[in-house]
Amino acid sequence: MRHLLSTRHLSRDAAIQILDIAEDMAEVSNREVKKLPTLRGKTVVNLFFEDSTRTRISFEAAAKRLSADVINFSAKGSSVSKGESLKDTAQTLAAMGADGVVIRHQSSGAPQLLAETGWIDAPIVNAGDGTHEHPTQALLDAFTMRRRLFGTTGGTSGTTGGTSGTNGGSRGRDLDGISVVIVGDILHSRVARSNLWLLETLGAHVTFVAPATLVPFGADTWPAAISYDLDQTLAEVKPDVVMMLRIQSERMNAAFFPNAREYAREWGLDDVRFQALAPDTIVMHPGPMNRGLEISAAAADSAQSTVLEQVTNGVSIRMAVLYLLLSGDREALL
Ligand code: CP
Repeated sequence: MRHLLSTRHLSRDAAIQILDIAEDMAEVSNREVKKLPTLRGKTVVNLFFEDSTRTRISFEAAAKRLSADVINFSAKGSSVSKGESLKDTAQTLAAMGADGVVIRHQSSGAPQLLAETGWIDAPIVNAGDGTHEHPTQALLDAFTMRRRLFGTTGGTSGTTGGTSGTNGGSRGRDLDGISVVIVGDILHSRVARSNLWLLETLGAHVTFVAPATLVPFGADTWPAAISYDLDQTLAEVKPDVVMMLRIQSERMNAAFFPNAREYAREWGLDDVRFQALAPDTIVMHPGPMNRGLEISAAAADSAQSTVLEQVTNGVSIRMAVLYLLLSGDREALL
């Protein structure tokens, strides 16, 4: 794996390898000294052209736990406001020394451009591009589902030379047969797209639920069921996982259907819908959440919610990705 640009073409074996290495990384993060020397002397550049709380901080924490140096770039306050191009910005940062580049950009395809043009000679990680993909979010979501549904015990992964998936628990497993209902703003969601491709590869059944105005043209060719009725879907599918998406109201106008009240009534995970879920159905949200719109506070703060676990797991997944892309020495792990 030279770059991580999407989940669409990630093989099942590669995905499971990342999830299993993330299990090892989670063990490191549980230690008193949460550090490995693996990337000492390497520099990770975080290039953020769009706002972020979780992803940027999580990549920074992940790089530092692997002993890498980190350079953080945020477009706000930079020479981007003077018209500096993506190419010049990226090459300027790379000239300061970059062994790996993590990029978030409002334009779909920007990470692929960096990877394919050779403007930077370093592995590129897509931290969210436009409405296209957010691969590490999907990986941390799959990691969270696997841990919640199958537990955290089991054999050790290939990184430590042990067995995989033979003792129960998560390691070595895919998500075969589980049902995941993803609700909300599919139209604008890179999280929905990356989750769809990865969940399909891992064997899960995906149903998208949204108002028709928030389902993109062409979605009927995707490997997912599509529904416009949340109550009917929850009653019929009885999902293992309900994933609520953020309504990206910054991309809608005042005349948009549905408005916030209509949306919350028909497609929000309100208290009544949340109480009707099976007690072992897990409730996910990538954040940031619009409480009271797509998810109620009771649902978000419940024991069934994995919202904060997703944040914690994001560090382990990003450690695994940086490790795989930047470390030439697999034996150095653990
Ligand atoms: N889930 C996610 O990408 O959050 P941030 O926008 O805060 O990074």
